[in-house]
Amino acid sequence: MARTSKRRSASGSREETELATVHAGISDYYSAKVRKFGTTPPGVDWTCLPTQELRFVQLLRMCDVTSPFSLNDLGCGYGALLSYLDRYHPASRIDYLGIDLSPAMLRRARRLWHNRANVAFAQGSFSQRLADYSVASGIFNVQQDQPRDVWERFVAVTLRRLHGTSRRGFAVNFIDAGSVARDGIYSAEPAQWSRYCIRELGATTEIIDGYGLREFTLVVRRAA
Ligand SMILES: C[S@@+](CC[C@H](N)C(=O)[O-])C[C@H]1O[C@@H](n2cnc3c(N)ncnc32)[C@H](O)[C@@H]1O
Repeated sequence: MARTSKRRSASGSREETELATVHAGISDYYSAKVRKFGTTPPGVDWTCLPTQELRFVQLLRMCDVTSPFSLNDLGCGYGALLSYLDRYHPASRIDYLGIDLSPAMLRRARRLWHNRANVAFAQGSFSQRLADYSVASGIFNVQQDQPRDVWERFVAVTLRRLHGTSRRGFAVNFIDAGSVARDGIYSAEPAQWSRYCIRELGATTEIIDGYGLREFTLVVRRAA
């Protein structure tokens, strides 16, 4: 018995170490980007504003922006989603929490949005609060030199945490495996993570694709 629990805790701490290494790699990568390019789409590794915002359009499809709701934005970068909401949904009433692993990113986000009511930021890999919805744009793409199995354990843990901190549902995007493969970039088949959310999280899912990017958006709703 004692030996079993020791073995279990050894594998638990191996997984924690593995996850911490993945998180550190992500943080370093994006901190370098934002230091180089500032609070612009290239500063969060996007090519341009129209495609950055096209992703927000898909992610927010699950929310009714005409009613008030709380939103966790995991991997918020410098908070570009807030600019998008200001421009296209100025009447929306959203209680927003942005979470990001990169301290350099968060410093800039806080500087940009410090005067804003109902907006807060936190450093970390998941939200400490339960919100109505969560979104995450671009957080699974940059695998760098992590082995695929390690990266997929990170994806699975992150989806589980998104589910656990979302009252109604969450939406995330992935690069579609059907698009051109690039070194260090993670891509997936839509069915893979949809199945995971249905089987492991007991959720219902919807795939949004065909919006002009080589990506898809996975919407995950709590089963009624
Ligand atoms: C491609 S950028 C997109 C930023 C923002 N969502 C946008 O679209 O403008 C991804 C961001 O997610 C952050 N990130 C990646 N994985 C994360 C995780 N598991 N937890 C928190 N932040 C994460 C990175 O530090 C980076 O700032």
